[in-house]
Amino acid sequence: MTRCAERFGEIFTLDLPTMGGKVVMTSNPDAIQQIFAASYEDVAQPKAREFATLLGATSLFVVEGSAHARLRRLVMPSLGPESVQRTLAEIQRQVEEAIDSWPLRVPFLLQEAMQALTLRSTVEGLLGRHSPRTEPLARAYSVASQAFASPLILIPIELQERLGFGPWTRLVRAAETARELAGDEVRERRAHPTEDGTDVLSRLLKARDPEGLPMTDGELSDTLVTLLVAGHDTTANALTWMFSCVLRDPSLHLQLKEELEQAREGGRLVPEKVVSLPLLDATVKEVLRLHPIFPAARRTLLKSMRLLGYELPAGTHVAPSIYLAHRRAEVFPEPTRFLPSRFFQARPTAFELLPFGGGMRRCVGGIAAPVQMKLTLATVLDRAVLQLLPGPPVRTITAFISLAPSGGVPAVLASRTTFLGRYVSI
Ligand code: HEM
Repeated sequence: MTRCAERFGEIFTLDLPTMGGKVVMTSNPDAIQQIFAASYEDVAQPKAREFATLLGATSLFVVEGSAHARLRRLVMPSLGPESVQRTLAEIQRQVEEAIDSWPLRVPFLLQEAMQALTLRSTVEGLLGRHSPRTEPLARAYSVASQAFASPLILIPIELQERLGFGPWTRLVRAAETARELAGDEVRERRAHPTEDGTDVLSRLLKARDPEGLPMTDGELSDTLVTLLVAGHDTTANALTWMFSCVLRDPSLHLQLKEELEQAREGGRLVPEKVVSLPLLDATVKEVLRLHPIFPAARRTLLKSMRLLGYELPAGTHVAPSIYLAHRRAEVFPEPTRFLPSRFFQARPTAFELLPFGGGMRRCVGGIAAPVQMKLTLATVLDRAVLQLLPGPPVRTITAFISLAPSGGVPAVLASRTTFLGRYVSI
């Protein structure tokens, strides 16, 4: 993308077989605004039949037009600021338990640790901590992601279906298991409503559309699996990038630790205070700017569109390039440097800083994910001494559905403090 931008400027066509063919990419904020402002009559989500097979016909990734708008209105409040605020202590507890499970003075891969942490926090966040289906759902998801990671997944799906084996078949079976588990949970909760839970399912069960109708069982189970798939790997990779950046920068590391003192009461970090710390907030923004988890947000034109002077016919795939937009030197001076303090001055628009995409398809986890990142970083800096191990320079690679640092980021936990006495090292 960088080479194309150097050669062709802020709009160009890339031929990407893995992204469904030719895509017109742009990093121009006005063009990005134009794409994000387009209505359901003007643009659609590029369709892959695999999404419907794996995530269900009523997944947010699959539905279009008024059905999509309705579903978003039902789902968004359960992941909005008020709902997220009620889960802060729970997230902090999950991170503390994860730290306790990491091996002491034995090298491990941060990416694997972050995958495990986010898988647990995502399934518990969706179903609640005490659901008997959190473990089986996490297992089904792991089977699916292993199948997806197999190089044999590239064998044409039709052939794998005809042969009846191969990673695609395993992936479909694991996705069916996940949707069945989600469906069982939904039916059980309807039969035995619980008290006001903070989990996403409790809130989705109470959601009503403008006609006063609740979500159907199918919508609920498809939504749970969609949120798991969309939220797990993305957040795990964002967390891995964050530690990779922060642990490489001793001065920032120290400043962040000092800042945490403003959020401490009676020796404990207060999560409500942690999430509004300015340097921590700037650090999370800078991680997502320099290392966007998705390089682009794609749309398919349903009508022709004039974009930066080019007439693009209906059927063209267009994509705001999140990666290039985040590297525009006029918005972010010295764009390749990791510099959280830039956000003390910079006030980029939603078309210049867009890690969560935009418009009617903007990520529904755009509030929850930065909160998870802040609480994870703060809790680890507070309770553990984590060090990176030397290794080759980190490159960006594709992992599952998002972009991740190469090599898994090897690290070692040099020490950790207990709850009771945070000065006691065990
Ligand atoms: C750092 C973590 C994350 C990043 C960087 C990220 C990024 C994105 C991006 C770029 C899109 C496409 C937006 C567009 O096309 O305009 C997206 C869509 C989506 N994300 Fe996220 N995401 C993250 C975490 C999450 C989480 C935690 C959840 C769920 C709890 C989630 C659920 C979704 C869903 C359901 C969509 C599809 C929305 C729709 O089509 O209406 N994401 N995400």
